[in-house]
Amino acid sequence: MLKILFVCLGNICRSPMGEFIFRDLVEKEGLAELFFIRSAGTSSEEEGNPVYPPARRELARHGIDCEGKCARQMERADYGRYDYILGMESRNVAGILRILGGDPDKKVFRLLDFSARPRDIADPWYSGDFIKTFEDISEGASCFLEYLRREGKV
Ligand code: 4NP
Repeated sequence: MLKILFVCLGNICRSPMGEFIFRDLVEKEGLAELFFIRSAGTSSEEEGNPVYPPARRELARHGIDCEGKCARQMERADYGRYDYILGMESRNVAGILRILGGDPDKKVFRLLDFSARPRDIADPWYSGDFIKTFEDISEGASCFLEYLRREGKV
């Protein structure tokens, strides 16, 4: 079982989109039983809140349901629970490393570092562009799955 944690700042936009887009991808590929997939935020700001409506609507437009998801702050113990901890942008990676105090087992990555065009996923809380967020995260999800295949993990 590969345990994957998607992480952004608030856990109401990008990282839940990552969680549910990647869940959808591995289900379509018939690999769902190989994975445990969740998301969290580096901040406690949105703790307990549902997925932000524009993010939920963009997922729904692609037939993806995120009902029941509530924001949770990442904690240090997550390091032992997960095999891959995937931040959405460089600032998230810095926040993740601050919470964890280090990454001795090299589990922390920026999602689009698996892409041929490594880059941050812009925060739609500020950009308002949830369509671009969906496209970028879908690219990251596909490239991450390809990476796992190349590495012989799935
Ligand atoms: P997310 O977006 O990190 O993609 O969930 C944000 C959500 C809330 C805030 C910032 C970013 N906030 O400042 O409350």
